[in-house]
Parts: sequence; structure tokens; C-alpha cells
Amino acid sequence: MNNWYFIITLSSIVIAVLMFRYTIVLRSYLREFTLVSKKVSNEEFNVRVESKVKGELGELTRNFNHMIKNLGKNLDEVKNKQLQLISILQSISHGILAIDIEGNIMLLNDEARRIIKNDSPGERYSKIIGKSINTEIKEPEILRAINGLFGSKQSQVEQITTDNEIVYSIKQDPVYLFNSDDVMIGFIINIEDITEKVKLENMRTDFAANVSHELRTPLTSISGFVETLKNNEDLSADVRNRFLSIIESESDRLTRLIDDILFISFLENKDGIITEKVNVYDVYQEIEDITRKSAEDKKITVNFDCTNKDLKIQCNRDYLKQVFLNLIDNAIKYTQDYGQVDIAIIDGDEMVIKVKDNGVGIPEDAIGRIFERFYRVDKARSRDVGGTGLGLAIVKHIAKSLKGTVCVESRLGEGTEFTFRVPK
Ligand SMILES: Nc1ncnc2c1ncn2[C@@H]1O[C@H](COP(=O)(O)OP(=O)(O)OP(=O)(O)O)[C@@H](O)[C@H]1O
Ligand SMILES: [Mg+2]
Repeated sequence: MNNWYFIITLSSIVIAVLMFRYTIVLRSYLREFTLVSKKVSNEEFNVRVESKVKGELGELTRNFNHMIKNLGKNLDEVKNKQLQLISILQSISHGILAIDIEGNIMLLNDEARRIIKNDSPGERYSKIIGKSINTEIKEPEILRAINGLFGSKQSQVEQITTDNEIVYSIKQDPVYLFNSDDVMIGFIINIEDITEKVKLENMRTDFAANVSHELRTPLTSISGFVETLKNNEDLSADVRNRFLSIIESESDRLTRLIDDILFISFLENKDGIITEKVNVYDVYQEIEDITRKSAEDKKITVNFDCTNKDLKIQCNRDYLKQVFLNLIDNAIKYTQDYGQVDIAIIDGDEMVIKVKDNGVGIPEDAIGRIFERFYRVDKARSRDVGGTGLGLAIVKHIAKSLKGTVCVESRLGEGTEFTFRVPK
């Protein structure tokens, strides 16, 4: 009996000791487990449970460590994908805005933020996400357009003009859940600034209208005089000659107009343009020969100065000819008899051509417009001297295509100076 009592007591003691040790191991294991899981929840994925316990706890440790490793890897992949998506979105030059079916913003790029006028530094990107377009789009015209397109199951486009004259094309495409044709989850809004495109289109339309008008005027005159000559055979030689010289000058005008229009289309079609090293002084001499007679007819003194007669620039020879011809022709045309024209070619950091006259000058309110196609300060007067209003538009176009500039300074009644600069 005593023996039994002794065995039971001993076993209880052994069990108690074992349980005590196990509890200590379990507690330290749980402590480490808690610490590691806390770090994982703070996105530290390089931590591991180090405890060397065996059995089921050991297996739990291995599984837990494996899970942390996978979690870290997957999260890295997700972050990478998100970074790629943001980079793609930011590199699109249009404004891109994704909104859900309730009209809340899901994502947008910086260009969209700029366009909707929500890019102030104080307002962080993340603050906009999840908010309604009605509070976040600060450009009223764009908001009105998007609200108008909102909800459509088909792609739709609208063109709007903002208060500060920017023209946008706004396209809305519905977004369907992947692999599903009927579960719509939102919309993609694509906003493109088409101000320049619209301006160019308008310019083309205006150009065609202006060309037809400019062609019609001399043609009407020519056919009128031809008709008169045909129907009046008894006209005096004097009158006949006067009519014939009008026909001649109107035909010259037509030829010049057509030449100018052809040159403009040559300028616009940059592809086939041949450029070479052109000697600037040589080109000037060619034009001097052409313009000498008209200067002499008006007894105008032409002074010429050139700092480097060997100066060469890379361009198309006809470009340079047109610049000299138009600027010198204008200086002579718009200067009274016995006036003076000073021409200079200056070789410095840039190549500069200056053409100055002491002629009629340009009124202040016209200065901003003289480079427009077909613009003439005094239409009737300019027409008398054979002008079509394309000369300076051509010069400006050439300056632009040579990455240069052309500017003018003028005083009414005192004279005008044009300065044409291009990089060497
Ligand atoms: N040197 C100048 N002095 C005064 N006015 C000028 C001068 N150069 C240009 N202008 C004004 O600017 C307008 C536009 O010039 P531009 O050379 O484009 O056309 P144009 O001389 O009338 O015609 P085109 O050169 O096509 O024969 C002219 O009609 C004229 O009124
Ligand atoms: Mg001219």
C-alpha cells in the first residue's frame, strides 16, 4: 500500500515538473510568435520565428515562417504592379480619370489633376481618391461635360471650350468587369487638349476662304477688261494700252499669289526639304539684283553692311531668299520716294538679318497682326503696290522652322525695323 502511494506521488511530481517546463517553453514560444507577428503586421517581412521547438509547434513555426516569406514576396509583386500601373498612367500625355459607377474617383494621372484644376500642392493625390467628381473637379465646363456623359453604356465624346479658351475633347468609355459584358464597374475619362489642332483646322478653313477671295479679285478685273476690249474694237490705242497694262499687272499679282501659296505649302510639307550650308551674303546679292530696280525707281538709298561675307548657315537656299526678298521688298514698297533702307547681316552667336527703313511705319494696333496670313494694314494701298499679305507670314514660318525668331519695331510715319535671327 505504501509502495503504491509512493509511486503515485512520484508520478505526480514528474508530471508537474514536465508540465511546468512545457509551460515555460510554450510561453517563451508564444512571446516570440507575438513579437514576430507584430513585426509582420508592420510590413517587416524579413523576420522569422527562430524557436527550435519540435513536434507540432515546430511544424507551426515552419508554416508560419513560410507564410511570412510568401506574404512578403506577394506584397512586393503587388507593389511592383501598382508602380507599373502608375508609371504607365503618368506617362500618358492626355488626362486620364477612372471613376466608379457612383461618380467617385478611382484613379487619375497628374495631367488629369492639372486639367480638372485639382493639382495644388496642398491637396494630396490620395485625398482625391474615393471622392466624388462633383467636389474634386474644379473646372466647371469639364464637370458639366463629364456629368453629361456619365452613365452611358456606349463610348461618347464631347468637345468643350473653357473660359480661358482651351479646347478639350472629352471621351468617356464604360469599364466592364473582366470577362463580363454586363457588369459595368465604372468609366474611363480621357481628356485631350485639342486647342492647337482646332486652331490649325480653323486656319486652314480661313486660308482656303481667303485664297479664293484673293484669286477672285484679280480674275474679275482681268475678265472685265478683256470683255471691254472685246466688245469695243474702236477704243483708242491709249485706252487699250492702259487696259492691257492693268490686265498685265493683275496677271502678275495672280502669279505672285500662286507662287506664295505654293511656297507656303512647300514650307508646310517639311519632309522633302533639302538643306545645305548656304552662304548668306551670296543669297543677299541675288536678291539685291532683283530689288535694285524698284529702289532706283523710287530713288531710295540702300545701305548694306555685312560683318562676315563668308558666313554660312545650314538651311534651304529658297528659305533665305524669301526672307531677304520679303523684308527688302516691304522696306522699299512701304517707304516714300527718296527714302532710305539699311540692310545688315550680323555674324555673332546667331545669324542676324536687320532691314530698316524710314518709311510709312506701322500703326501700333496693327503690329501684332502683320505676320498673319493675308493681313495688310491698308488693304487698298497694299493692293495698289501689289501686296497679297503673305510675305511676312512666310518669313515668320521660315523663322519658326529654322528655330529662330523674327520681330519688328516701328513708329508710324518714322519707319520700321525687322530683325530676323536664327541659330548658327
Ligand atoms: N517695312 C514696312 N513698313 C510699313 N509697313 C509694313 C512694312 N512691312 C510690312 N508692312 C505692313 O505689313 C503688311 C503685311 O506685310 P506682308 O509682307 O505680309 O504683305 P504685303 O507686303 O502686303 O504683301 P506681299 O508681301 O505678300 O506681296 C503690309 O501690307 C504692310 O501694311
Ligand atoms: Mg510684303
